Amino acid sequence: MHFTRLNIERVRNLETVAMQNLQPFTILYGNNGSGKTSVLEAIHLLATGRSFRTHIPKHYIQYKTDNAIVFAQSLEEKLGIQKLISGEQIIKLNGDNVATQGQLAKKIPLQHIDPLSTDIIDHGAKPRRQLLDWLMFHVEPNFYPIWQLYSRALKQRNILLKGQKNIPLAVLEPWNNLVAEYGEILNSQRYAVVEQWQVFFQQAIQQLLPEVEIQLEYQAGYSLSIGLLQNLINHHVKDSEKRYTEYGPHRADLKLKTAQGDADIVLSRGQKKLLIIALKLSQIAMLHASNMETVVLLDDLTAELDYQAQRRLITRLNELSCQVFLTTLDHKSVEKHLYALSISYQLFNVNNGCVQLMKNTNQVE
Ligand SMILES: Nc1ncnc2c1ncn2[C@@H]1O[C@H](COP(=O)(O)OP(=O)(O)OP(=O)(O)O)[C@@H](O)[C@H]1O
Ligand SMILES: [Mg+2]
Repeated sequence: MHFTRLNIERVRNLETVAMQNLQPFTILYGNNGSGKTSVLEAIHLLATGRSFRTHIPKHYIQYKTDNAIVFAQSLEEKLGIQKLISGEQIIKLNGDNVATQGQLAKKIPLQHIDPLSTDIIDHGAKPRRQLLDWLMFHVEPNFYPIWQLYSRALKQRNILLKGQKNIPLAVLEPWNNLVAEYGEILNSQRYAVVEQWQVFFQQAIQQLLPEVEIQLEYQAGYSLSIGLLQNLINHHVKDSEKRYTEYGPHRADLKLKTAQGDADIVLSRGQKKLLIIALKLSQIAMLHASNMETVVLLDDLTAELDYQAQRRLITRLNELSCQVFLTTLDHKSVEKHLYALSISYQLFNVNNGCVQLMKNTNQVE
């Protein structure tokens, strides 16, 4: 989807932001601490229900106030979220209250590209699993319901493990069966999606990092040769000692393998950044192939990528019909790219929490 309008109230130092006639690209420039990243953070709040900087609403809700609001409109839809300092939230879709944020998330596929962070490669499996599950959520309609059933069954099994030492296998049996049943479905869904993703990923790598060979390798989180049920049975004594379920799709990983070893030990910092961009661009490409448009948040574009890499990234985002919100300290070089590629954009200056339109290349006079 593409936003035509965006309103933000009381997110960090942003008091009242109103952006209209949004174009495929929105450039936000301004001094350090002026509020550029906060605009991206607000869009992220609307699309995911969470900030990418903190889990605590108090931190992003403006000091001395008790709530923050983000509202956006596309040609077809109106979406809004209000976050309260108490942790509660009110979510609206076309004027009606909706119970879960997931309904907005489905409407707004959102990718946040932060060229400063290499967490996806350097940290544990969790950020990679989340990346994979973002794709799952958008391309496999049965993923989310099965994932909920799996999580519920797993939670029950873990509650039993926590509550009692040396728990007999028979007590766990009903939960083993459910965890295994849903877990095997999740695994086959993920396996199938990674196979398709691999094709898009290889194309992205060709464009961004042609000098290295990298394969995506999905790991189920348990031994496939004996199956999940047998894993749970075989490990029940160990699980009982550790008091949680060690094996299953909740421990899945996505290995990034080069011919010389895992990407985290082989690649340079710059190469890691390009690899992360390739991972995300290839997911966006896969959605695009199914007629879904992604909103992309691009923080500090010019700080970390060289001119060539900026040009390639912008070119590709444009080909994939993304709506891009990007922050930069150097708007001139971003404008050069957009001008060369004939992309419509709006340029906003951010100054001390105020967001002011400076240029609209698609102005109807
Ligand atoms: N809860 C809050 N209420 C009000 N202001 C806040 C709150 N939390 C942070 N701030 C301030 O809001 C601003 C947020 O800045 P933000 O990170 O959006 O800046 P930026 O323009 O992206 O800067 P940079 O170029 O350094 O990345 C900072 O000046 C910060 O001190
Ligand atoms: Mg910033």
